[in-house]
Amino acid sequence: MGFVFGNGAGGIGGRCYGRLPWLHQHYRWGVGSMSGNGIAILEAQPQDLDLAGVEQRMQPHAETVAELLRRYPVKRAALLQMLWLVQSEFAWIPRVAIKWAARQCEVSPVHAFSVVEFYTMYRQVPWGRYTFRVCHNMACHIQGAEELIAHLERRLSIRAGETTPDGLFSIERVECIAACGNGPAVQINDDFLFGPDGLNQLQEGWHPTPEIMDDWIERLRAEAEANPQAPRNDELGGIILASPGHPGAEGAQAQVQQTGYAKPPPPLKVAAKAGEENGTVTITWLAAPECSDTLCEYSDDNGASWSQCGNVVPASVPGPPGPKNCSLTHSSAPALGLTRQYRVWSVLPDDQRRVSAVVEYRISEEGAS
Ligand code: FES
Repeated sequence: MGFVFGNGAGGIGGRCYGRLPWLHQHYRWGVGSMSGNGIAILEAQPQDLDLAGVEQRMQPHAETVAELLRRYPVKRAALLQMLWLVQSEFAWIPRVAIKWAARQCEVSPVHAFSVVEFYTMYRQVPWGRYTFRVCHNMACHIQGAEELIAHLERRLSIRAGETTPDGLFSIERVECIAACGNGPAVQINDDFLFGPDGLNQLQEGWHPTPEIMDDWIERLRAEAEANPQAPRNDELGGIILASPGHPGAEGAQAQVQQTGYAKPPPPLKVAAKAGEENGTVTITWLAAPECSDTLCEYSDDNGASWSQCGNVVPASVPGPPGPKNCSLTHSSAPALGLTRQYRVWSVLPDDQRRVSAVVEYRISEEGAS
């Protein structure tokens, strides 16, 4: 099974903290994975949340959304931040919210989904209000990381990658977080635990112990009791908008590059064959839909010089959205025995270009090849 039923351990009288009402179902989410597994993810999807509901939840972030989109030359470049914003609102990323982010960034839902699947910091199941992140890399391993993780697991009755049924605590194994000197390095949400005087208070030579973790569990429980409503973003770092050096931000030196951002994808599957009419050649290729034009060229001197023999505007080719099957007929076939080369350029509206692979066409006594 992809989930197990929680036993209530680690909870506070079944009370649910923060914005995780689904955890009342008393499933233990994310078994065996930081971001969840297939069955747990499907089980976690709130049945009463649709696109309109996501839109409503994200409405307070409308200005942030607009600002994020403004800072990038193309909308799809804002996808990581858009998903992060969704996670800051929901504390995880429901499937339907992936669709919402995809729409904002004008990418397909499956593209946005693949991004969420790839990065484990995106959570696909409801997550705890407080996450103990424990580094298990070498420097921390030899300072007792496994013992500390085992202690937390025992104490909270969950495994690393899981959340307590009350939605209060999660445990995460993480790679080096650059606090090796205070290993085994621990973060509580985004804050470092590397001193006795509170979070982010560095004291050299100080190391977390099981007793210190017990103390923090009690402190965090008390904090949640005093403030059952988890503050927004309380476990997420500032998103890119807080970075003054980011292109497009006030006073930033770097500028968003509005044009020339990326070359177009080259035409694919270029092929040349004998045309329907004698003495003609038909050239076919697959063009990316964002190209404003595709230009076909030929060379009869092994690529020393090229001449254009026609063009096809992908947008003018009928068919469903997506790559376009383009073709044109070159009215002049090469002389018998001569090898001709064809290639096709993709062209973007800002004149960025990329060329395809070269294909050869030859007519011999046996026919065209
Ligand atoms: S190895 Fe654990 S913080 Fe660097």
